[in-house]
Amino acid sequence: MQFQRLSSYSFAFIILLTAITACVSPSNPKLAAPEKECEQAPYSVPLYVRGSFNDWMSETHPKYEMDLNCETSEYTVAIDIPPLKEGGKYAFKVADEDWGPSTTFSVPEGDEPLIELDSPKALTTVKGPDVLTEAGGKLLFTLDATNPSEPTVKVEPTDYIPEHPIFDVDRLLNSYQFENVVRDKEWKGTGNVSKVKQKGQVFWVHLDTGLKARIEVLSDKIVHMRHNDTNDYENDISYAVINRKFDTPTINFKEEQEYFAIKTAELDVEINKKPFRVHFKEKDGTVIHQDLGVYKHKTDERTYIIKKAKSLEGARYYGFGERSGFTTKKNGEAMRNWNKDAYGYSEHTDNLYSTIPFFIETNGKFFNGVFFDNSYQSYFNIEKYVEDEYFFGATDGEMDYYFIHGNDSKEVVEQYTELTGRMQMPPKWALGFHQCRYSYMSEQEIYDLARNFREKKIPLDTIYLDIHYMDSFKSFTVDKERFPNLKKMIKEHQDQGFTFISIIDPHIKIEEGYHVYDSGLTSCPQAKDNTCFVKAPDGSLAQGEVWPGDSVFPDYFRDDVIEWWGELYRELAVDVGIDGFWNDMGEPATFGGIKTLPLDTLITEPDQKTVSTHAKLHNVYGFSQLQATLDGLDKLRPDNRNYVLARAAYAGMQRTGAIWTGDNSSNWAHLKMNIPMGLNLGLSGISMVGADVGGFVGAPTPELFGRWMQLGLFFPVYRNHTALKSPPQEPWVFGEEIEKVSREAVELRYELFPLVYDLTYESHKTGLPHARPLFMENPEDLSVYDIDDQFHFGDALMVAAVVEEGATQRKVYFPKGKNWYTFRGNQKFEGGSTESFDVDIFSIPLFVKEGAIIPTQGVEQYYDELEVNPITFEVYPGAVGSQYEYTLYRDAEVKKEYLKGEYQELHITHQQSASNSQTLAFNFAHNNYTPPEKYMTFAFRDAQSAPRSVSLSVGSVDKVNGTDLPEDKNGFYYDSKTKVLYVRLLDEVLDNNTLNITY
Ligand code: GLC
Repeated sequence: MQFQRLSSYSFAFIILLTAITACVSPSNPKLAAPEKECEQAPYSVPLYVRGSFNDWMSETHPKYEMDLNCETSEYTVAIDIPPLKEGGKYAFKVADEDWGPSTTFSVPEGDEPLIELDSPKALTTVKGPDVLTEAGGKLLFTLDATNPSEPTVKVEPTDYIPEHPIFDVDRLLNSYQFENVVRDKEWKGTGNVSKVKQKGQVFWVHLDTGLKARIEVLSDKIVHMRHNDTNDYENDISYAVINRKFDTPTINFKEEQEYFAIKTAELDVEINKKPFRVHFKEKDGTVIHQDLGVYKHKTDERTYIIKKAKSLEGARYYGFGERSGFTTKKNGEAMRNWNKDAYGYSEHTDNLYSTIPFFIETNGKFFNGVFFDNSYQSYFNIEKYVEDEYFFGATDGEMDYYFIHGNDSKEVVEQYTELTGRMQMPPKWALGFHQCRYSYMSEQEIYDLARNFREKKIPLDTIYLDIHYMDSFKSFTVDKERFPNLKKMIKEHQDQGFTFISIIDPHIKIEEGYHVYDSGLTSCPQAKDNTCFVKAPDGSLAQGEVWPGDSVFPDYFRDDVIEWWGELYRELAVDVGIDGFWNDMGEPATFGGIKTLPLDTLITEPDQKTVSTHAKLHNVYGFSQLQATLDGLDKLRPDNRNYVLARAAYAGMQRTGAIWTGDNSSNWAHLKMNIPMGLNLGLSGISMVGADVGGFVGAPTPELFGRWMQLGLFFPVYRNHTALKSPPQEPWVFGEEIEKVSREAVELRYELFPLVYDLTYESHKTGLPHARPLFMENPEDLSVYDIDDQFHFGDALMVAAVVEEGATQRKVYFPKGKNWYTFRGNQKFEGGSTESFDVDIFSIPLFVKEGAIIPTQGVEQYYDELEVNPITFEVYPGAVGSQYEYTLYRDAEVKKEYLKGEYQELHITHQQSASNSQTLAFNFAHNNYTPPEKYMTFAFRDAQSAPRSVSLSVGSVDKVNGTDLPEDKNGFYYDSKTKVLYVRLLDEVLDNNTLNITY
C-alpha cells in the first residue's frame, strides 16, 4: 500500500496477448470464424467474429464474410444488409480484441452511408463502406491489418434496429431529429388547460381535449405528475414507489391570467394554460424546469408518449441507472431502458440488465431529480439531437413522473429513495471480499480454493456456487456427482468463517419428474389450472430456452407464486445452510429470438387481478423475482438479514438486494467503466453495487487484475468472478507480485470495514451511496463535474485508483475549498490544485479531506474472525473553525435485532477550534447494543508537536511511557517521528464527553 509522491518506482508489467477466449454462451453464438494464417502476414492470430448479428429483438442473422489478404495485409469485410424500412438504421462496430478503438458504420437513411471513425488507430478503413441502399445490399469495407499489436478483429452490431412493430417509434425517435418527431402530424400535444381543480394536495388539470392530468404535490419539494388517455387515475400501480406520505406541504393555489400557480414553501409550480405545460420555479422566480410539453403518438394498439423539456443553462445529467461508457455525465446521449442479457457488452452498448429511469439534472447551482415511473420500454434523450433540450418517453403507458427539487445532489437522492425505499442492513459478511467463478465444479475445488485463501492469507468471506452445483442447470437441485456432500462441505467451511452464496435462475426446465416443474403445475390456486407460470395469450405456458433447455417462467407478482417460490428455498437455505442467494437471468433472458419471452406473454400485476403483457412488465420481471425470493427467505429465516445479489432490476430494487453489473470483460475499458457505472447506479438509489473484479469475459493481464482488485475494494459488492472458459482468476494465479497486490487491496478493505459498515448504515438511513461522484461532496467546485476517474468513498475519502495500463504516474485533482491529506499520511495538498504522483503496481492513491475522521481496524481473514477488534480513528487536522461529524454504527452484524432498536450510534464531532487546539465531542445518539470492544484509539495526524495538554471534560487521560497504550484506561502518547498523537479512550467514558487537545 506504499503510495509515494514524486518518488521513482520502476514499474514493469507484462503484456499478455491472449488469444481470444472462446467463452461463448448459447446466447452469444460465435459465428463462423474465418481463419487464415499468412506466412508473412502481420497477424498470426486468425480473424474472429464474436457475438452474433442477432441483436436482442431480431429473428435473423445478417450474413457476413471476412477475408484476410495475405499479400496486402488487408481484411475485407462484407455484411449482408436486408432492406431497410424508412428511417431504418444499422450500426456495426468493428473493434479490436479489447473493444478499445472502434470503427462505427451506420446508415441512418437513404443510400449515403455515414461512417464514423472513432479512432482510426487500430483499424483504418482503406475502402468502403460500399453499396448500401434502402433496398439492402452489401456493406463492404476493407481494413488495414498491419498493426501487429491488434491481432484480432471482431464485428458486432451496436444498434441494430430490426423490423419489429414495437420499434416503429424507436425508429422515429432514434432516426430523426426530435424536432421532426414533434412536428410530425402524428405526434399530438396535450392541448390547452380549461380549468384546474384542487382537492387537497391533488390538482386536476382539465384539458380542452376532454382529458385530465393529475398533479399531486407530495411535499414542499416533490411533485408527482400523471397524464393518460383514459382519465382513469384510480389504479396507480407502481413497482418502485412505496411511499407517498411526506411532511404535509404548505400549498398556496391561485389562478393568474396565463397560468395557475401552486406555491409550496420551497417550490413554485406553474401550470401554463395555452398550451398545457408544467414549469417549476425557485422561490426567487428562477425557472428550474421549463416544460416543453407532453406529446403522444397513437396507434390502434398503444399510445407512445414523450415529454420534452428545456435544459437548465449549463446543465449536466447523471444517474439513469446502469449505463456503460466512460463518463458519468450523460449529456448528448440517447439511452434506452429495456432489461437485456448483455453478455460481453462494451462501452457503446446501450441498455443493459436493469432499468432505473431516474436522473439528476444540475448546473452546480440547481439540482433537480426526475423519476419517470413507466415500466414499458422507455428512453432518455439528453440533448442528443437538439442542444439545450431533453426528452424522455415510453412505448406505452402513462406519462408518470416525479419532479424532485433539492439543494444538492444528496438531497435529491435522499428524496428519491424516500419515494422508492432504502436498503436494509445486509449481513456484515456481504461487505467482505467474495470469490466466484463460472463455475467451481466440485467439492474438491471448493476445498482447495478455501484452503488457498486461508494459507495465502488473503481475506475472504464468501464463496459462490454458480450453475454447475445444480443438476443439469435446474434451479433448486444439486448435482450429486459434483457435490455429493454439499451440506457437509458448506458446514466445514462455515466453521472456518466462510459463507456461501448459490445461484438460482428463474427459468424452470420443462421436465416431468423435476420437482419444481411438477409442483409449479399444481401449487398455485390463483390460476384456474393451478399453474404458477406465465402464459401465452392462448393459455398455454409461455416457454423459452435457457441453460437447462426449454423452460417456463414463474408469475412472480402473484401471492400464490410467491408462497410456492419461497418454499422452494427451504432445502438450500434451511437444510443445507446456504447463506445468501444470487439471482441471475431475470431480464428474463432466453436464448435466440428476441432473447426474452414473447412480448405478448401474460403476467399478473402486483394487485393480483390485473393481467398485463410482458411488454409492460418485462423491465420489472427480475425485480418481481427478487421480491419473491426475499419474501421466501424472510419467511424461512425470519431472523436473518437475507442477502440476494441480482442482475435484472427496476427502480426501487435497493430495498431488496444488491446488484452487479453483469458480464463485463477483462479489459482496461471495463476497468475504467467500473467507476462511472458504479457511481451512476449509486446516484440512482442503488448503493450495493459492484462489477465482476478482473472482468468476466476473457482473461485479465496480471496488471489489469491487480488494478481491479485495488479499484473494486471501494465498491460495496467486491467480488472476483469470471466466465466458464476463462482461465482461473484467483488472486494467486498471476504470480507473486500480483498476489501481494491483491492481498494488500483486500486487507485495506478489511481495515476499512468499520467505514464500509457505517456507510452502509448511512445508506440504510438516507439512501446515499458509498461510492459518490466528486460533485456530490464538492458541489461548489464546477471543475469536478467531469471527473470520471476519481470518486469519493463516503464523504471524506477520495479514491484516485490507477486505471491506466502501464501507468507510472497518476494525476490527481484536489477539489477546491479545502485541503487534502494522503490517507494515513501527513502530506497536505491544497484544494484546487492538481498533483502528479509516481505510482507503482502497489499504489492505491487515497486521500482524505482535512478535518475528517476515518475509522479503521485490524485485518481479519473474514469479517468476524476476531472476537475483539478495536477501532482506530484516523483524525486529520481541519481548517481553523471547521467542524466534521462522524457517526459510528455498531450492532450484532448478521441478524435483524437492529430493527428492534438493538444498535449503537455514536456521534463524534471533530472541531479544529484553533490552529493549536482540537476537540472531539462524543455523544451516543442511540445506545442499545454493547460491542465487544471496550475502547477505541484516535490517531491525530500531522500533529506538529507533542501536545501541551490532552484532557477530557469528564475523567482523565494520562500520558503513557513508551508506546503501549493500556487496554483498561485512557491514555496517550506522541510519536515525534511520524508526528502522530495517539489517544486511547474507553467506551465507557465517551457519552457526552469531550476530548480536548492543545499543542
Ligand atoms: C450469466 C451471469 C454470470 C454467470 C453465468 C452462469 O452469464 O451473468 O455471472 O456466471 O450466467 O450462471
